[in-house]
Amino acid sequence: MSIESVLHENRVFEPSADFVKNANVSGMAAYNQLCAEAAADYEGFWAKLARELLVWNKPFTKTLNQENAPFYKWFEDGELNVSANCLDKHLNTIPNKVAIIFEGDDGATQEVTYKDLYHRVCQFANGLKKLNLNVGDRVIIYLPMGIEAVVAMQACARIGLIHSVVFGGFSAKSLNERIIDAGAKAVITSDGQFRGGKTLPLKSAVDEGIAMGGCEVIEKVVVLKKTGLEIAWNSNNIWWHDLIANVADTCEPVMVNAEHPLFLLYTSGSTGKPKGVQHSSAGYLLHAMNTMRWTFDIHENDVFWCTADVGWITGHSYVTYGPLAMGATQIIFEGIPTYPNAGRFWQMIEKHKVSIFYTAPTAIRSLIKASETTPEVAPKNYNLSSLRLLGSVGEPINPEAWMWYFEQVGGSRCPIADTFWQTETGGHVITPLPGATPLVPGSCTLPFPGIDIDVVDETGKDVPWGTGGLLVIKKPWPSMIRTIYNDPERYKTSYYPVDLGGKIYLAGDGAIRDAKTGNFTIMGRIDDVLNVSGHRLGTMEIESALVANHLVAEAAVVGKPHDVKGESVVAYVVLKGPRPEGDEAKKIVAELREWVGKEIGPIAKPDEIRFGDNLPKTRSGKIMRRLLRTLARGEEITSDISTLDNPAILEQLKEVVK
Ligand code: PRX
Repeated sequence: MSIESVLHENRVFEPSADFVKNANVSGMAAYNQLCAEAAADYEGFWAKLARELLVWNKPFTKTLNQENAPFYKWFEDGELNVSANCLDKHLNTIPNKVAIIFEGDDGATQEVTYKDLYHRVCQFANGLKKLNLNVGDRVIIYLPMGIEAVVAMQACARIGLIHSVVFGGFSAKSLNERIIDAGAKAVITSDGQFRGGKTLPLKSAVDEGIAMGGCEVIEKVVVLKKTGLEIAWNSNNIWWHDLIANVADTCEPVMVNAEHPLFLLYTSGSTGKPKGVQHSSAGYLLHAMNTMRWTFDIHENDVFWCTADVGWITGHSYVTYGPLAMGATQIIFEGIPTYPNAGRFWQMIEKHKVSIFYTAPTAIRSLIKASETTPEVAPKNYNLSSLRLLGSVGEPINPEAWMWYFEQVGGSRCPIADTFWQTETGGHVITPLPGATPLVPGSCTLPFPGIDIDVVDETGKDVPWGTGGLLVIKKPWPSMIRTIYNDPERYKTSYYPVDLGGKIYLAGDGAIRDAKTGNFTIMGRIDDVLNVSGHRLGTMEIESALVANHLVAEAAVVGKPHDVKGESVVAYVVLKGPRPEGDEAKKIVAELREWVGKEIGPIAKPDEIRFGDNLPKTRSGKIMRRLLRTLARGEEITSDISTLDNPAILEQLKEVVK
């Protein structure tokens, strides 16, 4: 199989001469040279970058320690502080450069210079110090997108606290589970948030989450007054503004070991509860910076805008850490792309003269739809001439969406960096470098220099280019996940399975390399992880949520292709009572969707629920998910169903409750 037959698009877009001329990695020869350097002296390659890009308080002498593989250590005897690398370092050079241009939901803007941000972070860090928090303690951050979210994360980093940001779209129950798993001592939240012209509560979910029990370790809840929404007040609550009142606005950064955990970020896997992906300080920051430099080609006068929320890894690496450490000016946006209308992104690019724009395919696809129905909000109505580079992240970008992004947004002038990576990889691992790599719509192209990524078969053996297989990373890299918090065994079995020899990192995606160019195309997850609007969800998690409802006996969840969201969630449910019909079925569907929203978060609500007297199982009782996926797509089952115990059930499961 060649890539063309997967992609249905074989045009190649070479970088323009203009772009190549000024690029940080200029031309394919430069890219090849970097890859050759990494191949010739792997540790030397990373050590050189770490000395060049990071400011060390105590320089490292050892680059990589593999003694306890796969628990790798990078730069292990070095010491530094991540916040000092993002802020203090700029105080003598660019104190008055704008670090953040914040645009609120209502369109009001606010600018923060590097010096302002430094003081705000220092002051908040001093506030946190008053709360009996010590180096290594965990702090949950549950805040809307805004300057304060960045301040809170940076302040934790400044004094060695390990933050764990929980996306505001997760429920009280999800918050409760994360607080317990992380053993967090404090939560930082806000009274509410502004989104799409509405004022929505936020702190109430924290109250509810804590009240669910098991959160006795929480000593304090810091509350930002954001909306003025009325909130319940508990004895361990403290206002953000009271915490920093009369507190100094300078604060010595606490130097930590290179391997000191910078943060935990919970993400879904194929089994069990979400896992706390643990990242390091030095290795993580190094890759966030270097990808800003090589993938995003960051230059002094760029205005960088990554639209991701800080609740996701993209917002960690390309909002809170990478852009600041590189001294960039960036946009932070509180609102949503469709308010007050679906031209909001384009209007903001025009207004702030954004030069580098990084967003998700699902957003692009929804804006394509919007500009078809409402031509006034199409990108061509806006002056987007400031753009010079576009990026895509989170899910495969289909060639049609790629071409629209390229032509309508980028004016056929801006390269697109389709960046493949994961919460676990910390930063980009496959991506074009815009001044070097020829672009093929729908392909994330080639490995980031130094990342030894490839495709193998089920036994870990290389497959020839042109043959599909499992995406793996063969050598440890600095920004890799260090462990799953509280569950090192799960880290080993999830990412370093013995079937593959136990020494190579299994990404969990299927991939194929083009027979001629070696370009990668990602073929989607090989496990039971769904990607809904760029959000990662485990089918098992949704199933567990459903069976926790008193009406449900059994549930199976699969994904189904969706033209805007990438994938949508289809749930097959067997009730404890009889299979419902008509209005009764509709009522239960509404109840179960609401229930999943409460258990996990609105993003996990099934798009479709179908009821059966049973689920299709083999004689040994295993649910045949393959059949459920076929049914979800509305296709006829043509494959062999001779092992199926109860074929009659399939007819029932074709019916969607509308
Ligand atoms: O399936 C891949 C998909 O998103 C997964 C990682 O999700 P998460 O940890 O939430 O991180 C998302 C943001 C980095 C991957 O295993 N994915 C991510 N980027 C791409 C992608 N699939 C195809 N192309 C991409 N560019």
